[in-house]
Amino acid sequence: MTTTVIDNIGLLVTNDPAFGHLTAERRDAALVIENDRIAWIGDSRHAPDADERVDAGGRCVIPGFVDSHSHLVFAGDRSVEFEHRMAGHSYGAGGIRSTVAATRAASDDTLRTVAGRIVEEMRAQGTTTVEIKSGYGLTKADELRSLVIAREFTDETTFLGAHVVPGEFAGDPAGYVELVAGEMLDACAPHARWIDVFCEGGAFDVDQARAILTAGRRHGLLARMHTGQLATSGGVRLAVEMDAASVDHCTFISAADVDDLAASSTVATLLPGAEFSTRQRYPDALRLLNAGVTVAIATDCNPGSSFTSSMPFCIALAVRELRMSPAEALWAATAGGAAALRRTDVGLITVGGRADVVILDAPSYVYLAYRPGVPLVHRVFDSK
Ligand code: NIG
Ligand code: FE
Repeated sequence: MTTTVIDNIGLLVTNDPAFGHLTAERRDAALVIENDRIAWIGDSRHAPDADERVDAGGRCVIPGFVDSHSHLVFAGDRSVEFEHRMAGHSYGAGGIRSTVAATRAASDDTLRTVAGRIVEEMRAQGTTTVEIKSGYGLTKADELRSLVIAREFTDETTFLGAHVVPGEFAGDPAGYVELVAGEMLDACAPHARWIDVFCEGGAFDVDQARAILTAGRRHGLLARMHTGQLATSGGVRLAVEMDAASVDHCTFISAADVDDLAASSTVATLLPGAEFSTRQRYPDALRLLNAGVTVAIATDCNPGSSFTSSMPFCIALAVRELRMSPAEALWAATAGGAAALRRTDVGLITVGGRADVVILDAPSYVYLAYRPGVPLVHRVFDSK
């Protein structure tokens, strides 16, 4: 057993719901890590001895980020598509198919290397929990290997066979829905915790999404959804009906959708990196927060619509563009992400909880938005 004390913490964000206030902050604090758990939290001047002492030097300490939405198992490059968008072209779901072709052609090792590199990037930027989706294979074998590779990096794996209808099923979308909800799901379910559908024009409609999510739930998978990225649809209502843990994007949603979310335990996960990289309007975070909806922020890291692995960047966007307060944005990127994954053991710093702890090279988390684009992660303690 090894123990580490981190003392001289200028500002400690615990997110501990027992303290009432959102981010539950303490000043001049210390904490003790015993193996992979938090064993003690208190005033720095009362910090006990430990095998190792880390002097935080007055810096801010926060829970590791929980990135609850990413697509890391892919091959290929879409920088030219991004360049075209920046020149005025609009984003459509069809670009996904070019990544599907590159992913199918890639070896397992290539896919593993790409995903591994991005997971490392994420960790260097303070992410200690990540969800990874399949969705660029779209055959039984390619979705299965995508999930097997994703599982090498996280237990939070999501089957997204319903990302788009692949080219070979262009004339038979119903046949593809049958495949996803049948044979493909049978093969993939043992390697996934979640099932997701992209419910949007150009992808899957509400009835197709319902059929796929219902089949997934019969296999013991929990539901989450992509919807409202490009237009309003019935997707949010379906997510609530399916008791989805999270409905992601929520850029285009109706007043009824906001009411439905507020009355449910479904989290609205906002992905401002996607709006940044597709030059679309940002979601209305304050409308959701004011209605009492639980809001999370995630990167949506993928080669098409949001090729960032940086939760600090997404926090900066949430503050600058979504008008969330720095505290709301930080909470959404930690405890909010945990709620979106129905986890109570991550996204907070509490005695007995996991030691997923980030020391920022800053006196407060406000700097995450105040100094955008600057690497502010001083040290990461990761319980895994
Ligand atoms: O979340 N919306 C669907 N899926 C991704 C985009 C994937 C892509 O363009 O390759 C998203 O933005
Ligand atoms: Fe996504």
